[in-house]
Amino acid sequence: MTDGRNGGGPRDEPVAFGRRREDRAGRVVRVAAVGDFHCGEKDGGLYRDQFAKVNDQADVLLLAGDLTRRGTPAEIDVVLRELQDVRIPILAVLGNHDHESGQPEKVNEALRTRGVHLLDEAPFELNEHVGFAGVKGFMGGFGRYTLTAFGEGETKAFVNTTLEEVQKLEYSLRRLSTPIRVVLLHYAPIMETVMGEPEQIFPFLGNDRLLEPIDRFNAAVVFHGHAHHGTFSGKTPAGVPVFNVSMVRVREDTGAELFYVHEIPIPADSPGAESEPEPGVETPETAAR
Ligand SMILES: [Fe+2]
Ligand SMILES: [Fe+2]
Repeated sequence: MTDGRNGGGPRDEPVAFGRRREDRAGRVVRVAAVGDFHCGEKDGGLYRDQFAKVNDQADVLLLAGDLTRRGTPAEIDVVLRELQDVRIPILAVLGNHDHESGQPEKVNEALRTRGVHLLDEAPFELNEHVGFAGVKGFMGGFGRYTLTAFGEGETKAFVNTTLEEVQKLEYSLRRLSTPIRVVLLHYAPIMETVMGEPEQIFPFLGNDRLLEPIDRFNAAVVFHGHAHHGTFSGKTPAGVPVFNVSMVRVREDTGAELFYVHEIPIPADSPGAESEPEPGVETPETAAR
């Protein structure tokens, strides 16, 4: 396995964070999630105090992409300063805005250095019950009007970008050994949570090809961003809850200051639910960043 540190595992193994006593006491894992806060160079201090509160309210923080406006090194520095008081594990995917300057690797490297776990690179196991898989996803539309790989090479390449994201998500979900699997995306996997945006741009807000691995692996819950003016919650055809946690939606639809907190109950018959922590197992409080 791994050294158990956040973001410290090799790319071919899910990262295991360690086992938390709170999970047994409360039989619940609290997942905080937000995306699309779009930090600019002059936004320093805008979110720091609000992010600091996540330590008491959740066990893990998910960032659903569009952390920056244009994905510049200066902007990601601002993001890292906003996150400096967060002590729980941070898991992230990038958004389209984080690619705008053409240097997503620099954005990733800065996040990695901070200890943020990039789900696009490897899944993450918070404990023996709950694991996380994620990709950015891509656009293309929903239902019978989804763009198909027909005609020009450019169209085929566009559709193939989505298919590659679907395959990455499938592979990541398959690698998780936990019975409860959480999915993090930037683009929407269902049309329901983009409703509210202009209908003309629905195809640019997500793609329901992402649903196949989500429903096949029976994900517990999905979080995504990108559709700022969409709908906060929906469900996949198989009934998996989907939350659009773009910051505007979280603030307007839940009244929360910055992030939505979702509680995942741990069933009594979940493997390992009654086992005692192994001696010396690293906890979030002791893990180095
Ligand atoms: Fe956004
Ligand atoms: Fe976006």
